[in-house]
Amino acid sequence: MRVFTGIQPSGDLHIGNYFGSIKQMVDAQASSETFAFIANYHAMTSVRDGDRLAKLTMQCATDFLALGIDPNKSTFWIQSDVKEVLELYWILSSFTPMGLLERAHSYKDKTAKGIAANHSLFSYPVLMAADILIFGADVVPVGKDQIQHVEIARDIAIKFNNAYGDIFTIPEFRIQEEIQTVPGIDGQKMSKSYNNVVNIFGQEKEQMKTIKKIVTENVALEEPKEFEGCNVYNMAKLFLQGDELVALQERYKRGGEGHGHFKLYLHEVIWEYFRDFREQRAYFEAHQDEVKEILDRGASKARAVALPMIEKIREVTGLVF
Ligand code: TYM
Repeated sequence: MRVFTGIQPSGDLHIGNYFGSIKQMVDAQASSETFAFIANYHAMTSVRDGDRLAKLTMQCATDFLALGIDPNKSTFWIQSDVKEVLELYWILSSFTPMGLLERAHSYKDKTAKGIAANHSLFSYPVLMAADILIFGADVVPVGKDQIQHVEIARDIAIKFNNAYGDIFTIPEFRIQEEIQTVPGIDGQKMSKSYNNVVNIFGQEKEQMKTIKKIVTENVALEEPKEFEGCNVYNMAKLFLQGDELVALQERYKRGGEGHGHFKLYLHEVIWEYFRDFREQRAYFEAHQDEVKEILDRGASKARAVALPMIEKIREVTGLVF
């Protein structure tokens, strides 16, 4: 089974990205054929500074490796190193009804927030479909916000197959039921554009400051507190299991502690969770040439899969004669 995902290098990675997609990919490496890439073409919809995009792309690759993407197990590359996806993007555009894109939540949310509607923002799901389909992905682990995009890729693949035969694998999204959407510090979906994220690789003080800002109910210190629905608890439960989680619930029920205590605990838990990953990150940060070599090797492996597919597509669509 081929498991496939991408991440935009549009800012620092946050724990929503980690639990929504990165961790699922890292876990899948043990049992599946895994493909992970940095979606730098997609990031052009929001990053308009060349130096910044280049820097963010390397940073995202460094983070991804530090978090456990193993280049010996996974094919790991930068999207723009396999330019055939752009050719497929155009070809798939003819199989993409306008209405399908007009219904995309992500596009509607972004334009509602005042982001200027342009063609790349609108056709973003077609490029994502090209990514998924050119590599013959079976399963795409994503957070809830990306489900619709995978469904659009399915629709496009079915339309294309109806016209030209059984060319594309029809992909399925994979979502972790208990996670779906990781909440941010205000309880809404964690997202760079909502300014409510907890970064994975921020400075310790900065992370503490962010966690202190988590919105909580105003309940007197001595009173018992509700853990269900509490933003601090909801974040903590991503990192805790079994006895540790039950112990935290007991602390809420007992009373005598304020949300400040729970926030401090949450900070410690998160900081500890990513400790080894930070060490790995420091290694890759100091060995950027090694990261580039890994990406070059990954691009060759990715091209070896994408090229036969695009050649087949050129053939069936009449682009070779
Ligand atoms: P991006 O870069 O916005 O996010 C990367 C992944 O993180 C997940 N995610 C979350 N999951 C749970 N809770 C959250 N608060 C949260 N925030 C982000 C996203 O669902 C995503 O899985 N379009 C994609 C990148 C992409 C792609 C692809 C993905 C391009 N081509 C092909 C899969 C397959 C995106 O913008 O992800």
